[in-house]
Amino acid sequence: MAAQIIDGKALSLIIQVYVRNKQKACEKAGFESWLHKLDANSTQADLLNLISKLNQDPKVHGILVQLPLPKHLNTDLILDAVTALKDVDGFGPENLGLLTSGRPRLLPCTPHGVLVMLQRYKIPVAGKHVVVLGRSTIVGKPMGLILLQNGIDATVTICHSKTSNLKEITRQADILVAAIGKPCFVTADMVKPGAVVIDVGINRLEDGKLVGDVDYEQVLPLCGAITPVPGGVGPMTITMLLHNTLLAAKLQQKS
Ligand code: GUN
Repeated sequence: MAAQIIDGKALSLIIQVYVRNKQKACEKAGFESWLHKLDANSTQADLLNLISKLNQDPKVHGILVQLPLPKHLNTDLILDAVTALKDVDGFGPENLGLLTSGRPRLLPCTPHGVLVMLQRYKIPVAGKHVVVLGRSTIVGKPMGLILLQNGIDATVTICHSKTSNLKEITRQADILVAAIGKPCFVTADMVKPGAVVIDVGINRLEDGKLVGDVDYEQVLPLCGAITPVPGGVGPMTITMLLHNTLLAAKLQQKS
């Protein structure tokens, strides 16, 4: 059902765990999955060739290129090559464009998982001020777009490494989404008491401990709710990947 492509040598431990967990989730859900582990020296043409084969393979309903790719590969060109109806990460221009124009189809898994989590925990979003820390194409930007959709109706601010007066902005958040990739970056003084804090980060410290982008111990006593790392957003990302793969299979049947 789903094919994962990764660059073999450059795989960090965290990425290896991501990939393994996605394989396990596929097995558990009864999805067949194939891992294509590429050599770190593989060329752009090698990867484009593989994507082209998977695009044409009727047994494959979803294609996921595990990021980050090595520097000698052009990530945009690689992601553009994945056929839009198999783009289960939702990172390609067609799916991101549809989301931007208010016609969401295959949504990026992590921000979609955050939305579903907020909805399942009945956390009010409409009219609330959501501050997103980070502007990546994987999380920050689509997170903002998803929350801005008609019917979801959040007021969204997206902050990034160049934002001035960051703390003043984050302190206004009813919901704070941290996706900045810096361990324990969000401290207690950046959070409004009672705010809901969603931690998208996953960082490994030198002692091997996994931590998020939020200083969990500091923020826990003052916030209204908070997601742990590991175990909060991560499993939601994988769940939404399975959701997208099923949706992609249905869309392909119709097309
Ligand atoms: N690297 C970090 N997060 C992700 C993700 O959600 N999808 C892919 N393909 N690569 C990632």
